[in-house]
Amino acid sequence: MNKYQSISERALGLEPSLTLEISALAQSLKKQGKDICSLSAGEPDYETPGFIIEAAVTALRKGETRYGPAGGDTELREAIATKLMEVNNIASKAENVLITNGGKQAIFNLFQVVLDPGDEVIIISPYWLSYPAMTRFAKAIPIFINTDPESGFRLDITQIEEKITDKTKLLIINSPCNPTGRVMSLSELEAIVEIMRRHKRLLAMSDEIYEFLISNKEKHYSLSSLAPDLQERIFTVNGFAKAWAMTGWRIGYLHGNSNIINKAIALQSQSTSNVCTFAQKGALEAIQKSPRGIEDMINSYNNRRRILIEGIKRIKGLTVQSQEGAFYSFPHLNKRIPNSLEFCKTALEEEGLAIIPGIAFGNDRCIRISCSTSEEIINEGLNRLEKVVNNLMIS
Ligand SMILES: Cc1ncc(COP(=O)(O)O)c(C=O)c1O
Repeated sequence: MNKYQSISERALGLEPSLTLEISALAQSLKKQGKDICSLSAGEPDYETPGFIIEAAVTALRKGETRYGPAGGDTELREAIATKLMEVNNIASKAENVLITNGGKQAIFNLFQVVLDPGDEVIIISPYWLSYPAMTRFAKAIPIFINTDPESGFRLDITQIEEKITDKTKLLIINSPCNPTGRVMSLSELEAIVEIMRRHKRLLAMSDEIYEFLISNKEKHYSLSSLAPDLQERIFTVNGFAKAWAMTGWRIGYLHGNSNIINKAIALQSQSTSNVCTFAQKGALEAIQKSPRGIEDMINSYNNRRRILIEGIKRIKGLTVQSQEGAFYSFPHLNKRIPNSLEFCKTALEEEGLAIIPGIAFGNDRCIRISCSTSEEIINEGLNRLEKVVNNLMIS
């Protein structure tokens, strides 16, 4: 029997996430005693704020250790609906909210319940790497729209309309964006809403997981808030991982039309069941006390993002535009430098610098650099980056 014979056709194309793989490789090199400087983190470098931890510990002590409703605790669903109304200006009730195992499961569940084989999903590139993987796993087809580093990854709205066919089912947007850090403008979002009004079958998913990680030069707008008439067709994904430094807690949520939400609850009840009961109590405290405990983190990311981007701008051989969101920068490699994977391997092997190749996000001429680490490590990483680039430019 060949080693792939028992694997389903659907699973054959599945590959582990390249970002996690590179972080793991860097960590194992570090354990072997190598001097590794990592600018690869896709998660906050903070601990979860103490008041959130306390709420979960109290819940555990009170015996909140049993199965709960598959769609999430009613109290948390209600609190999220309130947050969506007050912070995001989206009309919402608890029945529109599903609590999921991180933002990732929110996206996965949505795709599984709305996509049929052969449906087309429009993905703006560079993209978060799980969108195409989850699209393909649902037997749907990713259709990419490229944006350029030269324009700071600005979206050419006309391209969306050009890609729409009678098979198009879903458009994905992600602002602030992983990997580029770009925040979409109000006019771009309004243009998307207009496209949706013209194309009555089109659904949209807005991934807003970095909504709070944004400088005060920009403002975050939720796509759904711009079109009360399109509530049935716009889905919002969010979670607690990034803003509250809760990556390991695995709590996210999906918001949208209650018929679809109910199907996603059914899927969850037949697969993972409820999200960890006492973790939901921590999330409840986080959302009710928001933004207490996160302002300092946000200011610090803004400061470190600026330091990183200014540092990259000084390196000859890399070009980058300033961006105002998330904790990444996505500079462009000079044409004399090999592709992004080669570049990142060289950086790791020769300078002990861990960064993520842009190919993982759909652009092989860029690299993703994270500022979710200390200023000292960012500066050290910039020095090493400059050496790698210099060596490749003269070789
Ligand atoms: C754009 C984006 N969406 C969703 C997620 C999923 O987050 P989680 O499942 O950890 O809540 C991530 C995580 O890196 C992300 O970058």
